[in-house]
Amino acid sequence: MTQVTEGAILKALSQVQDPELQRDLVSLNMIKNIKIDGSKVALTVELTTPACPLKQQIQRDVEQAVLAVAGVDAVDITMGARVPEDKKITDMAIKNIIAVGSGKGGVGKSTVAVNLAVALVQCGAKVGLLDADIYGPNVPMMMGVHTLPPTPQDMKIQPAEAFGVKVMSIGFMVGEGQPLIWRGPLLHSAIKQFLQDVDWGELDYLIVDLPPGTGDVQLSLVQTVPISGGVIVTTPQQVSFDDAARAVSMFKKMDVPILGIVENMSYLQLEDGSLRRLFGEGGGEQLAGMAGAPLLANIPIEESIREGGDQGSPVVVGDPNSPSAKTLLGLAMSVAARMSMIVLG
Ligand SMILES: Nc1ncnc2c1ncn2[C@@H]1O[C@H](COP(=O)(O)OP(=O)(O)O)[C@@H](O)[C@H]1O
Ligand SMILES: [Mg+2]
Repeated sequence: MTQVTEGAILKALSQVQDPELQRDLVSLNMIKNIKIDGSKVALTVELTTPACPLKQQIQRDVEQAVLAVAGVDAVDITMGARVPEDKKITDMAIKNIIAVGSGKGGVGKSTVAVNLAVALVQCGAKVGLLDADIYGPNVPMMMGVHTLPPTPQDMKIQPAEAFGVKVMSIGFMVGEGQPLIWRGPLLHSAIKQFLQDVDWGELDYLIVDLPPGTGDVQLSLVQTVPISGGVIVTTPQQVSFDDAARAVSMFKKMDVPILGIVENMSYLQLEDGSLRRLFGEGGGEQLAGMAGAPLLANIPIEESIREGGDQGSPVVVGDPNSPSAKTLLGLAMSVAARMSMIVLG
């Protein structure tokens, strides 16, 4: 009978690729805890994000490769995850900061930020959500949290929590729906405080809902926060293209890697199954081409998205079987995969 060795297992697994990172699992250091007991092998595959869209495929590929090793007749695979950290982020136990931006307001930036955060939690990640939209801080409403918990003396500011996401909003400070006038320095210090003085704890991803647009305020914000990657939300309309293109240029100018483009309100599905493209088409694709980044999702127009936003119950929780919720979950996985690809280089 052939004796099974760790070397033989590793050799077999060095032929298995992570389809997204396009490197083999052994050189990516993803194979841990190999245990051999006669003809039985147990091991852990440590993915670079719990929100890995290809988890099942990788598990099957590993299983096949190990079972093909001479002498092996059973394999027990544990799937784990360790999110790689962006080294630019110092002083905080936050691994990646992902900003959601848009050229103009009303395109669904906050809707995407909120559902992205909740979907990443659903996948098993540790997530925070920072509402930095000084013009319309509506994350509290969308997440159904309106106050912060009391902060004990001598402790950092405690964030609110909803759906497993730690939430901080400029709206908690000034009251929702109140118009705000911010001057640069004040904004800078407020954002710095939100990052450094809030008790975020350990996070895999901090999602930042940026203010819409690309003025000085946005620019200084992007400079203040060490952003690991940016997501840009747009609609299919041609008229929003110029605004969105400016958002792409802003990220590029600040050296923020663009994870991808999200086209929201892409279509409305009618009762008979046909699609109405109320806002035209092509905007997302065109922007992705201009940005040199993938179009990550086309989100349909759905009543449950709007209702979820108004009622403080994001659609990925409130109506998880709806087409929009499935699209948003897929988006979260693509964002996580792109983020780890960029961090690992
Ligand atoms: N795909 C969608 N289908 C239906 N309503 C949507 C959709 N995306 C956003 N909305 C609604 O449109 C409004 C604006 O979205 P919001 O996320 O607040 O935009 P932004 O943050 O870009 O200003 C909200 O009421 C939201 O619920
Ligand atoms: Mg908003």
